[in-house]
Amino acid sequence: MTTAPTHAKGLEGVIAGETEICNVEQSALIYRGYEIADLAANASFEEVAFLLLVGHKPSSSELDGFKSELIAERNLPTAVVNFLKDSGDLVNNQFAVPMDILRTAVSILGHLDADCQDNSPEANLNKSKRLLAKIPTIIGHMQNSIEGKEFVAPNPALSHSANLLFMMTGEEPSPEAEKVMDVSLVLYAEHDYNASTFTSRVIAGTLSDLHGAVTGAIAALKGKLHGGANEAAMDMLADIRRDIGSENDTSKITDWMHNAFTEKRKLMGFGHRVYKNGDHRAPILHELGKKAAQARGEEFTKLFELGETVQHIMETEKKIYPNVDFPCGMTYFTMGIPVPQYTPIFVASRITGWCAHIMEQHAHNRLIRPRVAYTGPDLRKWND
Ligand code: CMC
Repeated sequence: MTTAPTHAKGLEGVIAGETEICNVEQSALIYRGYEIADLAANASFEEVAFLLLVGHKPSSSELDGFKSELIAERNLPTAVVNFLKDSGDLVNNQFAVPMDILRTAVSILGHLDADCQDNSPEANLNKSKRLLAKIPTIIGHMQNSIEGKEFVAPNPALSHSANLLFMMTGEEPSPEAEKVMDVSLVLYAEHDYNASTFTSRVIAGTLSDLHGAVTGAIAALKGKLHGGANEAAMDMLADIRRDIGSENDTSKITDWMHNAFTEKRKLMGFGHRVYKNGDHRAPILHELGKKAAQARGEEFTKLFELGETVQHIMETEKKIYPNVDFPCGMTYFTMGIPVPQYTPIFVASRITGWCAHIMEQHAHNRLIRPRVAYTGPDLRKWND
């Protein structure tokens, strides 16, 4: 038996490349030099999207032009609209979940984009803007189809965040709801070599196309150890609520969690590969979400109180902190968003980070092809 060389399981701690786009450290989360709390407080999602995709803070005329381009690109080609008409049946009959529908819709968009096979910086930037503009329309039409409703057309008067909410319901969101959605998209936009972004770079590194790389990234984000955690976190809180009843009885919550610890279950929305002492994004979204919950009433404040108790027990007993997906679950629930659309909404934001990385990969490409430690049988003869 050959001795396997040492390796880092899950590539923990491995520096797998270089990037100018983002730095994830325990001490700070930085997008192109700007710290996340600064961006969440002072930048709109469109400004952050421009920063990530184009590389600098937009001037006001650049921002106006960028917003107009996005608004002009919100409509979908007929083939995608037709696919989305059937998507409600696929989801309602449990053949697919919304992340699968979104993945296929993005893949079809690739077939219909005249620049699909062109990996030049100009074509890639144009394709990135088109995807950014169209993803909320896909999410909206899909949700309309799930609910058996007419498709809501994009509203050119609304921002990316407000339009995303509008398209799911046909109702213009309040300025408060728009703000909460906008900040959540700013927080979700980019996170260096997370699993989905790394996936997109591996695909782009073969000189494959941007739509293909994004399609792969969506599949990677779906899993509940990654982006799927925002849905799983809310499902977990619903399970706790179902098991303990409508009151936040701390001893019952503690028992529920001790049982989870004994069964060695992972609590969704907690822990992080890099942030071992807390995720910078989580308290920002928690505070905003809690304010929204207080405005909506007791059911929602009680949900946040339940979440806070769970968080307190995890922090004191396990020293494991919430990641951004934990407050996100409670926040999107408070906003009335259907749980299976939480991760697609993550895509509506992270598309910016993925596309920035795909462009960076194409601009400085080298095939990503690591080695693996072989642990199979020693050499043997087929006829022995
Ligand atoms: N619940 C209970 N225990 C945990 C959790 C958790 N959520 N996270 C980590 N641990 C424990 C884990 O069991 C292990 O304990 P031990 O050393 O006794 O075996 C220790 O902490 C180290 O965990 P790990 O699994 O080796 O850590 P990792 O870096 O491989 O995994 C993680 C990171 C995010 C996959 C993991 O923390 C996890 O599964 N969390 C739940 C899913 C989740 O919230 N994912 C979202 C990630 S961040 C945002 C995003 O990508 O969307």
